[in-house]
Formats: sequence, C-alpha cells, structure tokens
Amino acid sequence: MYRDVTCGALRTTDIGRNITLSGWVQKTRDKGFVVWIDLRDRYGITQLVMDEERSTLALLEQARQLGRETVLQVKGTVVERTSKNPNLPTGDIEVLVEGLTVLNPSLLPPFTIEDETDGGDDLRMKYRYLDIRRNPVKNNLIFRHRVSMEVRKYLSEQDFIEVETPYLIKSTPEGARDFLVPSRMNQGQFYALPQSPQTFKQLLMVGGMDKYFQIVKCFRDEDLRADRQPEFTQIDCEMAFVEQEDILNTFEGLTRHLLKEIHNIDVDAFPRMTYDDAMAKYGNDKPDIRFGMEFGELNEVAQHKEFNVFNSAELVVGIAIPGAATFTRKEIDKLIDWVKRPQVGAKGMVYVKYNEDGSFKSSVDKFYDAQDFEQWAQRTQAQPGDLICVLSGTAKATRAQLSALRMEMAERLGLRKADEFAPLWVVDFPLLELDEETGNYHAMHHPFTSPKPEQMELLDSDPGAVKANAYDLVLNGNEIGGGSIRIHDKEIQATMFKHLGFTPEEAKAQFGFLMDAFQYGAPPHGGIAFGLDRLVAILGGQETIRDFIAFPKNNSGRDVMIDAPADIDSTQLDELGIALNLD
Ligand code: AMO
Repeated sequence: MYRDVTCGALRTTDIGRNITLSGWVQKTRDKGFVVWIDLRDRYGITQLVMDEERSTLALLEQARQLGRETVLQVKGTVVERTSKNPNLPTGDIEVLVEGLTVLNPSLLPPFTIEDETDGGDDLRMKYRYLDIRRNPVKNNLIFRHRVSMEVRKYLSEQDFIEVETPYLIKSTPEGARDFLVPSRMNQGQFYALPQSPQTFKQLLMVGGMDKYFQIVKCFRDEDLRADRQPEFTQIDCEMAFVEQEDILNTFEGLTRHLLKEIHNIDVDAFPRMTYDDAMAKYGNDKPDIRFGMEFGELNEVAQHKEFNVFNSAELVVGIAIPGAATFTRKEIDKLIDWVKRPQVGAKGMVYVKYNEDGSFKSSVDKFYDAQDFEQWAQRTQAQPGDLICVLSGTAKATRAQLSALRMEMAERLGLRKADEFAPLWVVDFPLLELDEETGNYHAMHHPFTSPKPEQMELLDSDPGAVKANAYDLVLNGNEIGGGSIRIHDKEIQATMFKHLGFTPEEAKAQFGFLMDAFQYGAPPHGGIAFGLDRLVAILGGQETIRDFIAFPKNNSGRDVMIDAPADIDSTQLDELGIALNLD
C-alpha cells in the first residue's frame, strides 16, 4: 500500500499512530542534528522529522539528499510538534520517520511550487502539470468541480437529462469562425467543431426530451481575451413548452442555488433591465450594478451654448466619480490620456469638479455657469466632492467609451468587490444588428431566436427596431449566460433566414435538417447556455478564466506545453487530400 493516510489529514488525535504517507518533497530544512521535510499531496502538507536522537544516521543522510519534488513514501509515527504552526491544519503534529522510499526522483523544477511562485506566466504554462501542484491552481480546479457537481445536482433534481451531442458537425452560427476538421473518408470535405450544440438541442426538443442539459465543450475561432478561450465549456440547456418567464425562473433558481451552496449567499429576485435601458444607463449590455455611477444624458442641458464640440454631438453623457473632485490637474490629465488611448478611443473629456463647498470648477468654465453645472450634477447624480466626467460623440461609441471609464474608475476605487454578487437579467435584446461595414443585418443572438411575436410585422419595415425574446444573465459586469425563445415554425424560420441574407437554397443547404424537423411537430421551446469557465471564475472572485481551466491556451491560441497547433506530416496531408499553399 502506498499510503494509508493523506498529507492533509493528521491531527493531534492521531498522535501515536503508525502511518504510511506518500507525496512530493516541497522542501527540506537541515539544521545538522535535525532534518525536516514538508511532504505535500493534493490534500495538504505534513511535516516529517528525523533527528540524531531518534533516527539512524543513515536515514538522516538519506533525507539530506532529497531534492525538491522527489516522490516519496514514508513510514513513521505521528508525534506532537514542539513548535506548532497555527497556519497549517496539520501544524500541531509531525511524523517521526522510520523509513523513506524514493518512489521517483525529480529534476529541479523550473519554478518554486509554492503559493507564491517565482515562475512567470509562460513558464508556468509550459510546465502546467507542475503549476497544478500549487494551491492556487489546484484549488481553482477543485472549485470548478464543486460548481459543476452542484449544477448537475440541481438540474437533475429539476428533471433535466444530460445528453451528449456530437463534436464533428456542420457549422453552427454563433458569430465566430469555426474550427474545421478535414475528413479523410470524404476528401475535400470538412466537419466543423460546434460553436455550441444549439441546433442539436433544438432537435432534442423535437425529439421530445423536453428538459435537456449538457456540460459541454464549445469551440470558437475568435480573438482571446481574459474571459475568452478558443475552447471553453458551456452549461447548455433547453426546455420545451416554455415561455421566457419559465426559463428565467428556472435558471435564476440554478444561479441562486449555486450562490447559496458555494458562498452561503441568499439573493433576492434578480433585477431585470431591458437592453435599451442597460445601454442608456451603463453604456453596456452587461452592466456591473454593484456600484452606481449611472450615466446622465446631458444633451438638453449642455447643447445650444457656445461649446461646439457638444453642439455637434449626437450624445453628450457624463458620470460622477465619487470623491474625485480632489483629483489634481495632473491626475485629471492622466485620466484624459486614458480615455484617449486607442483601446478606449475618446477624442477628449470634459470634467467638472463639484467641490465640497458646492462650487464648480471645470474645463469648460468659459461656456457654462454654475446653474448649468447644477443641472449636470443633477443628471449625473453627482454629490459635492465628486468629479463629473463628460464625453460626447456618436451615441454608440460614446456610450462604449464612458462605460470603459466607469469600469476603470470602479476598479481603481475598489468598488468591484470580489465577494459581492449582483446578478442581473438583461432582456429584450434587439433581434438583428446592423453590420456597419457590410450594411447587412445579422442575428444579434443567433438565427434561431424568436422575434417578439407582436413585432413580427416590423421585420420588413424597420428590422433594426425588432426586439427578440432573448436574454442574458449578467453577474458582476460579466455575461455569464445567454439564451432565447426559439422559432419553432418553419415559415417564420425561413423568413428569418431571408432577413439575414440567405437565399432559400443557402438556408436549405445549411439548415435544411432543422427546417425539416420543424415540420414534424416541433414544440415551442427555448433555452440558455452559461459559460461555465466564466461562472466559475466569477464565483471564485476572479475574471480570468484561464486560471480555472486545467490546460488553457495562451493569448495566441497556443498550448505551449504540448506545442499545438503544430505542423503535420505530409503523409497525413496526403491522406486527407490537402495540399498546403503557404505563400
Ligand atoms: P452564447 O454565444 O451567448 O450563446 O454563449 C453562451 C455563453 O458562453 C460563454 N462564452 C464563452 N466563454 C469562454 N470563452 C468563449 N470564447 C466564450 N464564448 C461564449 C459566455 C456566454 O454567455 N447557443 C447559445 C445559447 C442559447 O441560445 O441557448 C450560445 O452559445 O458566458
């Protein structure tokens, strides 16, 4: 037997026990007459001790030779420690070693395997298996497992059935590029890896499965960000015979269950906000509502004065940054530089200091007086002591810029607290989105999303104004889930494809199977998919999903550990009938 107890288990009640432990040498301390070893496994660390009084010289010598990360088996007796370590669950005891067996030696690891490591990101990714031995990474993976288990438990109890759907499929349009897999048996043809199981879960509804879920890998060839990976995991769900209200209630229930089980937090009914309100109040369809700084629109009170920058703008909008009236000129200049960075893209920023004594000091004092600023303060809900920051330009761009500033300032002011959870449903998304480059409409969620039935007629006259029965679940400023009520009528689906610029032939070629299925009694249905990686990261108080994925890709989409993607053999290419032309 390699072990009869783990490295995190022993307590004072075990004193006197003879035990066998296995684990990795975290570190060795040699005081000459005594040698201590910290032995680590997934469950914790146990201190081993050998000294001149109680151990043989040979054993002491053997212990001194052990390098970091050696895999060791130890037999010994649990004894009380003379100097206890209150920071370690096993800190009251140590194991007096009677025998050591090296199960496997280790090369010197390229970084220290402790909570605080000296390894940079790249090195840790290359040796991810060593990184996983560290508590912060290991604990994140265990945390992810707990969340997944709670999801499965909750949904199973609600009669959902987990069904697997295929990975080698045909393109599903979720708005990203597909990863393609060449077919050897059908040369010149390709499978696409699913961007989501969207069409299959709808077919499961036609198949009568009525409540489906799947914790499933999805693949999207898009640029990476902190909250995006090319392969990621969804909690994908679909229900038949439901309306939007049923879906929102069911998955509010799931989210509430997770917050309760994971953090023992009870949340009230989740607030709901329309997409239009979210954009107007926060400039963002995934607003972080843990703090205020709501947008105040200033067109009425700031235009038609002498200040031409505002006069010519579609939107003049500001936020009040709490307590920032004390910012120095230099600090404000830095803020102006920040909004002018290409990533944010503002042309400039007007500011008004609303001083504690009620007076105003602004960069546009020449054009406005205290009465004007009173109105600005009212609309941005500024209090004395706040700094009002105002941006202007086209509505879309200006909202996005001010939203970036709002999030940045909240971060700097410590208003985005990791242990505070503010879920929000954003509802009534537009059905279609205008692609400014091509002038074409595309589906904002996906082409299977149902328009609001009462707005069907608008589809021809004013497609951009049609709202969908589509919703997102937002948690702390992150989109953790999105879904919709689907079209279940063949004719409506065909109309939708037409509006998205598909000819009937193209629609048939790509989605004929779904339209066919709709002719055999498709029930009304709808669903949602959560991003599991995001959900887990946010529940874990973080926003970078990479830290919650065992083997993530780096920012260039590479797995630097296994070195993928990689060249392939010319014989493999031949078998696939693929000729590379890399010029
Ligand atoms: P959607 O495209 O909104 O909807 O995706 C659902 C959720 O998946 C997460 N997500 C991602 N997470 C990590 N990396 C990515 N690259 C990534 N892309 C998306 C987000 C998002 O909210 N089939 C529909 C769902 C439905 O209509 O039922 C869909 O996939 O958290």
